[in-house]
Amino acid sequence: MLWNQVRYKDTFPRFHRDLDFPNFDAYRKDEFIDVTKTSWGQGDKKGGISYFISFIGLIGTMYGAKSHITHYMTYMSAAADVRAMASIEVDISKVAPGGFMSLKWRGKPLFIKNRTQVDIDNESKTPMSALKDPQTEEQRTIKPEWLIVIGICTHLGCVPIPNSGDWPGGFYCPCHGSHYDNIGRARKGPAPTNLEVPPYKFLTDTTVLVG
Ligand code: FES
Repeated sequence: MLWNQVRYKDTFPRFHRDLDFPNFDAYRKDEFIDVTKTSWGQGDKKGGISYFISFIGLIGTMYGAKSHITHYMTYMSAAADVRAMASIEVDISKVAPGGFMSLKWRGKPLFIKNRTQVDIDNESKTPMSALKDPQTEEQRTIKPEWLIVIGICTHLGCVPIPNSGDWPGGFYCPCHGSHYDNIGRARKGPAPTNLEVPPYKFLTDTTVLVG
């Protein structure tokens, strides 16, 4: 009875050996009638469309990758207004000797001081041993009569007051009492280092490019 149910006639596990395999020839294209051969063995003409679809897919993938890369580069790069502020040209022609100007650069206060000959002479006598953060005038200025520094106290970031403190023509930070001399070197109080000198260069005698 078991044998009749499964109609087991040949070697295991081939069932239903008494049934004819259905003939699907009526549904096949003429060129693919022979089921014993692969489609390409019978002259498959579908290669062209396959390559075309692959090509379209490749173009789509490349376009998507380019869009993603462009998106991330645009997202991560600085905004136009920030780039515009990265470097600034400053006209210093109106700052008289002993005078001072402050402006904003990259979101920070920028101090520009026109040092007098007295200022220059005073600091030329200061020995390096008297400094917390020894730097010469040549290291801190391009032209000795012009001091350009970032106006942020190196202690905890307050904005020092120009032309005040114990050093004539220097800077004084009222937050915790740091004193800087007239080329922004830390001289007294908790400030550990000198006021930072930003990158700059003179474009002309009266124009400075900062940044
Ligand atoms: S922040 Fe200037 S002395 Fe402390």
